[in-house]
Amino acid sequence: KVEAVIFDLDGVLVDTAVYHFQAWKRLAKELGFDFTETENERLKGVSRIDSLRLILNWAGRAVSSEEETRLATLKNSWYLELVSTMKVGDVLPGTEDLLLNLKKAGKKIALGSASKNAQLILEKVGIAHYFDAIIDGNGVRQSKPHPEVFLRGAEALRIPPDKCVVFEDAQAGIDAAKAAGMKVIAVDSYNVLNDYDARINNLIEVTL
Ligand code: G6P
Ligand code: MG
Repeated sequence: KVEAVIFDLDGVLVDTAVYHFQAWKRLAKELGFDFTETENERLKGVSRIDSLRLILNWAGRAVSSEEETRLATLKNSWYLELVSTMKVGDVLPGTEDLLLNLKKAGKKIALGSASKNAQLILEKVGIAHYFDAIIDGNGVRQSKPHPEVFLRGAEALRIPPDKCVVFEDAQAGIDAAKAAGMKVIAVDSYNVLNDYDARINNLIEVTL
C-alpha cells in the first residue's frame, strides 16, 4: 500500500520545464550553438552545473571553472526572469486537487527536485504548505539518476521506499526513483519516457 507520494517539481507540478529550456537555449545561442527539444530531454532532472556541462560538451566547448560559474549564473538569472511572471495558482492541471486528495487520504507528501529554486517556486504558486518534506538541489549531492534525492525524501517522511510512489517527467528522475526501490508514474504526454510503472498525460488523470 502506498503511504507517501514524492513529486518532482519542474514539468510535473509547474510548467517550468519550458522556462528551463528557453533559458538554456538563450545561453547556447550566446555560445553560438543551438540544441533541439530531443537533446533537451537529456537536461530534464539534471542539476544546473551538469546541464551546463552537457551543453558545453555538445557545443564542443571547454571553459574555465570561473566561466562555468558565470554561465550557470547567467542562465539562472534568465530563468528567474521567466519565473518572476508566475503567480499563485500557476500550477499544472490537476495539481491542487491531487495534493488536497492525498492530504485528505492521510498520505505523506514530499518534493524531490534537483532545483535550487524549488522553495521559491512552491511559495510563488502557493502550494508549499502541502509538503511534509522538501528535498531540493540545495541539500542533495548526487544528481538524478542517483537515488539520493528520493531516498532522502522517504527518510524525511519516515516511510520505507517501497511504500513511496514518485511522479516524474524526466528519464533521469524515473531511473532515480527505480534505483531508490520506489514505484514511479511518468507524467509524459509525448510518450518519450521508458521504464516507469505507469504513464499519465497529466495529473488530472490520477485517482487515488
Ligand atoms: C530540475 C529541472 C532541470 C534543472 C534542475 C536544476 O531538475 O528539471 O532542468 O536544471 O532542476 O534547477 P535549478 O533551478 O537549480 O537550476
Ligand atoms: Mg521534472
